[in-house]
Amino acid sequence: MDAREMKIKAAEAALQHVENGMRLGIGTGSTAEEFVRLLAEKVAAGLKVEGVPTSERTARLCLELGVPLKSLDELPELDLTIDGADEVDAALRLVKGGGGALLREKIVASASSRMIVIADETKVVETLGKFPLPIEVNPFGLTTTRIAIEKLASRLGLSGEIKLRKSGDGPFTTDGGHYIFDAFFGRIPDAEALAIQLNSIPGVVEHGLFINMASFAIIAGPAGARTLQ
Ligand code: 5RP
Repeated sequence: MDAREMKIKAAEAALQHVENGMRLGIGTGSTAEEFVRLLAEKVAAGLKVEGVPTSERTARLCLELGVPLKSLDELPELDLTIDGADEVDAALRLVKGGGGALLREKIVASASSRMIVIADETKVVETLGKFPLPIEVNPFGLTTTRIAIEKLASRLGLSGEIKLRKSGDGPFTTDGGHYIFDAFFGRIPDAEALAIQLNSIPGVVEHGLFINMASFAIIAGPAGARTLQ
């Protein structure tokens, strides 16, 4: 089974949890997009759902494939969000934001009664941090914010480069008009402490640590899909 087939397997398993009439948060990334494609087939066959997309990219795909969309203001409380992840550990702590949509992903997941993570085996880690941690920041005072993150990291015994994400010649800009620092910590032994303290830095808009948010994860490997909970 290749990587795409594993993503489809995880998305298929997640689709089993979608019921008629549900208000759905719809994630961002290549795995979430496999879910959108399968969901669109069900919608074409008569399933009634309304989705809130976590990015402009996901919104475009949903519109193209005929998945009905609403804004989060129209549907402020959701039944279920289905989204991918860059890393997931045994306690269902996640790193997200590789696709740059972490802020909307976190807002939408928080508005949902349940969040199901869909991923392939390569995303399962013992300790978070091998994947660079995305930190969404306000463009104002970028250097001040970077220094504050570096000082916090050093207080927590973390080290590693903190790089501004680029796109073409300039900084990558999120759907909300912010920038992203990718923090190459390598290992984040105390993700809870880092998560709380990052949120206390004024220039940090949000970070990619999702803790106590996932209800369970569907992990697809060559032998099929399993549930991590
Ligand atoms: C986007 C995300 C994605 O869920 C994450 O990057 C995983 O993407 P993919 O399914 O393409 O590996 O957090 O901001």
